[in-house]
Amino acid sequence: MRVFSGIQATGEKHIGNYIGAMRNYAATQDEGDADFCIVDLHSITVDYDPQDLHDRTLDLAALLYAVGLEPDRCTLFLQSHVSGHAEAAWLLSAVTGFGQLGRMTQFKEKGEGKEFVSAGLFTYPVLMAGDILLYQTDIVPVGDDQRQHIELARDLAERFNSRYGELFKVPRGVFPEIGARIMDLQEPTNKMSTTGGTQQGTVLVLDPPDVIRRKFKTAVTDSGREVRYLPDEKPGVSNLIEIFSVATSMPIADVEAAYDGRGYGDLKGDVGEAVVELFRPVQEKYAELRPDEGELRRRLHVGAEKARETSAPTLEAMYRRMGFVRP
Ligand code: TYM
Repeated sequence: MRVFSGIQATGEKHIGNYIGAMRNYAATQDEGDADFCIVDLHSITVDYDPQDLHDRTLDLAALLYAVGLEPDRCTLFLQSHVSGHAEAAWLLSAVTGFGQLGRMTQFKEKGEGKEFVSAGLFTYPVLMAGDILLYQTDIVPVGDDQRQHIELARDLAERFNSRYGELFKVPRGVFPEIGARIMDLQEPTNKMSTTGGTQQGTVLVLDPPDVIRRKFKTAVTDSGREVRYLPDEKPGVSNLIEIFSVATSMPIADVEAAYDGRGYGDLKGDVGEAVVELFRPVQEKYAELRPDEGELRRRLHVGAEKARETSAPTLEAMYRRMGFVRP
């Protein structure tokens, strides 16, 4: 079985990224051949700073190793190191409907109210479909906000297969049962995000322990004081329960039972503490790995070579099926 997932290079990584995606990369790397991609080409679709892109890319590589990706158990690489991704995006644009891209909610959200909206933001889901399809991927571990993009990738695979002959495997998104959509702690009806959310409501994987504790202590909760998991009625408390459940491996019903009659204050304090403990080993490992840029670059170089090898036959077959004369 082949596993593939991607994560943006820019933006500081938060507990939503960790719970919705990163920890599941680490968990799936032994389920089959796993490829994970830092999607640096995607990062230029919104306003960004070149130096920031450069530094954050290396930060993220160190962080992914720190959460448990192991160079000999999976392939971690930078999207821009494997030129086939940009090529696949162009080829797949032939089977992508303009109207289909216009319906992508992330495009609408990220473009809304902006003075300048790049063409790349619009075509981004085609690049993402190529990322996945080039690796003949079976499963894609992602958070809930990627559902529509995965649907598009499946659709493009099917359209390509029926127009040019069976080539792509049709991938399946895998979403965590708990924590597929972690909400902003200050605005619990909005998804946690470094671009769209509040700073105080976004818990970063690399936040110092005191900052993590404070962000949870000041989390917005709901009316009433019962600790119950009711995402529609009690979005704030339900979000804290999900985070606590993941951080402690305690089932949601047990969390509810443990806080029966105790109110929100206790829960907030305990979630903060549990998250500090959850991130402690990640932060320690990150501090060890990040300074050695030479080693990070060496690992990424090896990763890119492996990724090129895996994806090249599919890219070549795409060109041939589509009628290109090959060198
Ligand atoms: P990105 O970089 O925005 O997010 C990376 C991963 O984190 C998940 N995530 C969340 N999960 C739970 N709660 C949240 N609040 C939350 N915020 C983010 C995302 O679902 C994602 O799994 N388009 C993708 C990157 C991409 C990709 C791919 C993913 C490019 N090519 C191929 C899979 C396969 C993105 O922007 O993710």
